[in-house]
Amino acid sequence: MPDKIGNPFIPTLYIIDRIKKETSDTFTLKLLPQDIKSKITFAPGQFNMVYVYGIGEVPISIAGDPTYNDSVLHTIRSVGNVTSSISRLKRGDTVGIRGPFGSAWPTEQAQGSDLVIIAGGIGLAPVMPVIYKVLSSRDKYKRVTLLYGTRSAKDIIYKRELQKWRKRFDLELEITVDYDSQNWHGNVGVVTTLIPRAAFDPASTVAMICGPEIMMRYSVLELLKCGMKTDMIYLSMERNMKCAVGFCGRCQYGPNFICKDGPVFKYSNIENLLSIREL
Ligand SMILES: Cc1cc2nc3c(=O)[nH]c(=O)nc-3n(C[C@H](O)[C@H](O)[C@H](O)COP(=O)(O)OP(=O)(O)OC[C@H]3O[C@@H](n4cnc5c(N)ncnc54)[C@H](O)[C@@H]3O)c2cc1C
Ligand code: FES
Repeated sequence: MPDKIGNPFIPTLYIIDRIKKETSDTFTLKLLPQDIKSKITFAPGQFNMVYVYGIGEVPISIAGDPTYNDSVLHTIRSVGNVTSSISRLKRGDTVGIRGPFGSAWPTEQAQGSDLVIIAGGIGLAPVMPVIYKVLSSRDKYKRVTLLYGTRSAKDIIYKRELQKWRKRFDLELEITVDYDSQNWHGNVGVVTTLIPRAAFDPASTVAMICGPEIMMRYSVLELLKCGMKTDMIYLSMERNMKCAVGFCGRCQYGPNFICKDGPVFKYSNIENLLSIREL
């Protein structure tokens, strides 16, 4: 996305144009390249390394519409040193961006099939570009289903977009929360409970899953129970990163480097690794 001519380790300067609060600990940044001539291109599923000067760098998925190439969106949950530093930045401040890096969701392969997207918590961010892309050429896909689960109603991100998509007849959207609360009138239970109720043809469906590893493991089991094949299920994996270009080994995952071979993997390629809990 940034101008990659030259050294992939050198960040490009981006200006924070807008900050949108999603939940108590999660926010979305709209970033504009300081060089306004730069055009932003990325594939759904890819990530950037976001660098806070003097603090450090973290991998963050690109969350925006891939057809819109003047800005980049990142939705970030403040969990530690770098992400909390990003949360303290203001409009007009700058960050360094390296990327885009990594593999993409198989949006082309899913054409002509049903598509089931399963997201947990902030795992909705990395699949947002898929949804934008699919909705922009909706006739290329059969049934499209988005199943989204969060801990509670106050953890739901992208409320405006979800509200808009609820009104569409060509997208089946189901949201569930783990814990009920007074102002929640929707589904209660973990996201996997939505899978058996979703309408899709297991013989001709591509599934994309993003969220905590435990949620991805159980979602896969549920999809397999429905009759899906292991090579039609895709997951986005997370590990700590440093170089993001397959150089340092920090993100090693079995024989893979998540930064280079992932983060999006076909389940059949990582089946054995995913069953090892602490890997
Ligand atoms: C490909 C990829 C895409 C990502 N996309 C997003 C995104 O869109 N939005 C978002 O908010 N976060 C995303 N993350 C996670 C994000 O990179 C981490 O939350 C961040 O690196 C934490 O850094 P920190 O300095 O704030 O926290 P630290 O101070 O380093 O750690 C805080 C806690 O988080 C744990 N942790 C740190 N990094 C990771 C990691 N990568 N995976 C699992 N646990 C970790 C630590 O063990 C510790 O418990 C992504 C990670 C990867 C690998
Ligand atoms: S982060 Fe260095 S090899 Fe992946």
